[in-house]
Amino acid sequence: MEVLETVAAVRARVRAERRAGKSIGLVPTMGYLHEGHLSLIRRARAECDFVVVSIFVNPLQFGPQEDYNTYPRDLNRDTRLAAEAGADVIFHPTPEEMYPAGFQTHVEVEKLSQGLCGAFRPGHFRGVATVVTKLFNIVGPDRAYFGEKDAQQLAIIRRMVRDLNLDVEIVPMPIVRESDGLALSSRNTYLSPAERRAATVLYRALVYGRDLIAAGERDGLRVRDAVRRTLESEPLVSRIDYVAVVDPDTLEEKTTLSGSVMLAVAAYIGKVRLIDNIKVVVD
Ligand code: PAF
Repeated sequence: MEVLETVAAVRARVRAERRAGKSIGLVPTMGYLHEGHLSLIRRARAECDFVVVSIFVNPLQFGPQEDYNTYPRDLNRDTRLAAEAGADVIFHPTPEEMYPAGFQTHVEVEKLSQGLCGAFRPGHFRGVATVVTKLFNIVGPDRAYFGEKDAQQLAIIRRMVRDLNLDVEIVPMPIVRESDGLALSSRNTYLSPAERRAATVLYRALVYGRDLIAAGERDGLRVRDAVRRTLESEPLVSRIDYVAVVDPDTLEEKTTLSGSVMLAVAAYIGKVRLIDNIKVVVD
């Protein structure tokens, strides 16, 4: 498995594959790969001739008080897992390679970045949109793969691709969960055993909301409040950033439920901020 660290090296490698008529898949990650990432790599392997996995903990998407320095990193383990899942190349640039001195150009998807996580993590989605645009420009993939757990990120990237006429197909992949429902996340490694048990409350709260809708509830605010009360019932939930019932594409709040609906939550278990969501189609 090749690990390439420079833009020039990955460009040269992809250009050679393209000249040989191969299609290119890109799986952008921040590393510390888990089964969710591996499902993206396997899908890319099944659909593309040549698969690039980027591993880059992007400083631009972390706030000053966030976990950029402590974000888990293990390139050897990631390289092995990515190879087993079918990656051909890892792109692992340094921050200086991605953001050389004098860097000052950013991509901002304005409205979609404001609510939900954007309201609590100022600048986060500007950092995501900027690095993803750079990765698209560096690799030039036919398809790029993103998990549905980061639902706002996915909506923003889709909007950005449409707005900027980027020539790449965005392939979303379902959330991968532990057997007790906890959505996989590299940040789950921060949880103590007691917090890990408590963290299942996010999924339980969402399922409770989904069950209310299945039982006929069509008032989005009532569903939202019921999900919030479930989160509040867990003593290790130290803060709730939001509970939202929204349209999955526009991320606008839905007060009367019909069509595609997404229930989304962001909450702290102790000091660890977790997000999760569930989609429901209401007839
Ligand atoms: O979802 C992530 O891991 C990151 O936000 C991404 C898309 C790799 C950009 O840094």
